[in-house]
Amino acid sequence: MTVSSSLHAQERAELAGWAQGLERSALQEMLVAASRPGIISFALGLPAVELFPAAALAEAAERVLSVDTSALQYSPPLQSLKQHVRELMKRRGVNCREEQIFLTAGAQQGMSLLSRLLLEPGGSVVTEELIYTGFQQVLAPFRPQVLTVSTDAETGMDVDAVEQCLSGGVRPKFIYAITDGHNPLSVRLHPSKRARLVELAERYRVPIIEDDAYGFLCYENPLPPLRALSERWVFYVGSFSKILAPALRVGWLVVPEELILPLSVIKESTDIDAAPLSQRIINAYLDTGQLPAQIDTLRTQYGLRRDVMLRALAENFPDAAGWTKPDCGFFVWVELPPTVDVDELFRSAIEDEHVAFIPGHAFSVNNKRPDTPSIRLNFSHPTAARIEEGIPRLARALKSVMG
Ligand SMILES: Cc1ncc(COP(=O)(O)O)c(C=O)c1O
Repeated sequence: MTVSSSLHAQERAELAGWAQGLERSALQEMLVAASRPGIISFALGLPAVELFPAAALAEAAERVLSVDTSALQYSPPLQSLKQHVRELMKRRGVNCREEQIFLTAGAQQGMSLLSRLLLEPGGSVVTEELIYTGFQQVLAPFRPQVLTVSTDAETGMDVDAVEQCLSGGVRPKFIYAITDGHNPLSVRLHPSKRARLVELAERYRVPIIEDDAYGFLCYENPLPPLRALSERWVFYVGSFSKILAPALRVGWLVVPEELILPLSVIKESTDIDAAPLSQRIINAYLDTGQLPAQIDTLRTQYGLRRDVMLRALAENFPDAAGWTKPDCGFFVWVELPPTVDVDELFRSAIEDEHVAFIPGHAFSVNNKRPDTPSIRLNFSHPTAARIEEGIPRLARALKSVMG
């Protein structure tokens, strides 16, 4: 018996109300099962290890540390990295000023800081019915009223429903949107809906938190994010995690200038500085001008893996299943025949076929299960060979649970 489990309840510190019910989420349970040795995993949304620019980052780290040991000191956000981010944003079709850029420890922290800035306990927010679980975790301490709208498989978020909500008098603290490379649905917001969503944000004065974690990884026809349409009402969240390496823990926000000071005070209370050594290493790497070629490589390689997965699905999955063809991001969203029990499929896939995925319902907000049984498959992390091996196995598990 562990020390903590042998303690009586009155001998333990009392946790905050929202934290008392915290337990390992169904998603975490699944990820533990998915990480067992021998499993081909389509579960997590990890970048490919073999595509990290490790040698170039090692050289950048060496340059940083050999030139100036104060790189290891507490330090304010690196101005030259903000200049690089400004150039990077231009590649996304966004013009912004360095004074609007706020460096963070990844997109996750960016969303967390913005939520702390905007949301009162019990306040309301608008998002989609199926959404990135990390964002749901960000919201949890506020116990907010989460108002959800559905998502069209072709055109993304139901913007009519957002309008109904706002015109009906609801004033959420913000709208959360993943415009490109939606996680988990892999859809992108249609251009006409982008313009309407921003118009609604401006008309009703409700900010949009735009999570663009995958926006640089579009395989076809990249579109500018919402931030290109509104400087005032779109708070943009960016990250180096998917285009360089998540272990560096560096991302950024692009927000109206007057938010930078309150954000910096909130951030200081959390972790003082935004990973100063990582900032310097990324800055030195960006100075070499290699990032555009790295992004091109990632687009090509992930695009190939996506195609391998789509081909394997077409060859092995039953006609009654359907799936998205992602233009952007890391996932394929698969809808299964209505009789399939996704939890049973998960068990069979892991136990009998040694292959893992995430059931679609793990992403549902307010515990509302999707009407259609669905699963999310990641194609960025497994190699093409593993995808070709894993999809037929998953198809076998599916056929067995379909009887
Ligand atoms: C949609 C989305 N937003 C944000 C993140 C977190 O990114 P970061 O590593 O920059 O914190 C992820 C990570 O998978 C994600 O899928």
